[in-house]
Amino acid sequence: MKEFHVAIDGPAGSGKSTISSQIAQKLGWIHVDTGAMYRAVTLYALENQVNLNNEDSYQFLDNVKIDYQDDKILLNGKDVSREIRSEEVTNNVSLVSSFPYVREKMVFIQQKAAKGKNIIMDGRDIGTVVLPNAKLKIFLTANVEERAKRRYNEQLIKGVTVDFEELVNDIAIRDKKDSTRKESPLKKAVDACVIDTTYLTIEQVVDKIINLIEKKENEQDGY
Ligand code: CDP
Ligand code: CDP
Repeated sequence: MKEFHVAIDGPAGSGKSTISSQIAQKLGWIHVDTGAMYRAVTLYALENQVNLNNEDSYQFLDNVKIDYQDDKILLNGKDVSREIRSEEVTNNVSLVSSFPYVREKMVFIQQKAAKGKNIIMDGRDIGTVVLPNAKLKIFLTANVEERAKRRYNEQLIKGVTVDFEELVNDIAIRDKKDSTRKESPLKKAVDACVIDTTYLTIEQVVDKIINLIEKKENEQDGY
């Protein structure tokens, strides 16, 4: 069976989910946004008032179903794609995803989803932990001001005005937490190709990655 795994990692706002989703649509592949899965766990924990600081609290994951389908995240069958973007979830997701028990459960689901498929998966530890043998690994970056500007514009479209400096600060804090944690920190895989998206449009990044996928496919076919 044909199986092509593309791993996309990078910090918040570097364009991972938008770009991965567009590539998957163009190629007719599956896309899994693993950040959305950690957000769904956080939403469940907040809604059920579990103690977020205690790793044992997350035993609930044995009985909770998390699925990612067609860019929608399902929690026990309910579409929670909008709820997982709340400020409360955003502020707590780095803590929740720092626990080995939570990561072990998510990585298991992610690896199962990728088996035998053409898939593009984005997150923080995809090239390093989830799909270490991915045929193509990309590390997306952009400077923190540009990433904050993108988030600012997203809020503006929704009619929400946020303080830009606060946004820069929040993103910098989350970057730090994600890249310094003990368990599977955000880190470029040694064999990942770095793309700085600061001055690139979404379309330019999508085209660059599709070219890299085609190049790998041709190498594989012996051209
Ligand atoms: O979209 P945004 O960049 O804001 O973040 P996200 O991709 O939705 O991920 C939310 C959070 O989940 C990250 O800040 C990480 O703490 C965590 N995460 C992770 O630990 N491992 C992953 N593979 C994906 C996300
Ligand atoms: O998943 P991640 O947090 O890495 O980023 P995202 O949610 O895909 O992208 C954040 C925002 O930046 C979205 O509104 C994208 O449309 C925008 N973006 C952009 O303006 N230019 C790029 N080259 C990449 C993303």
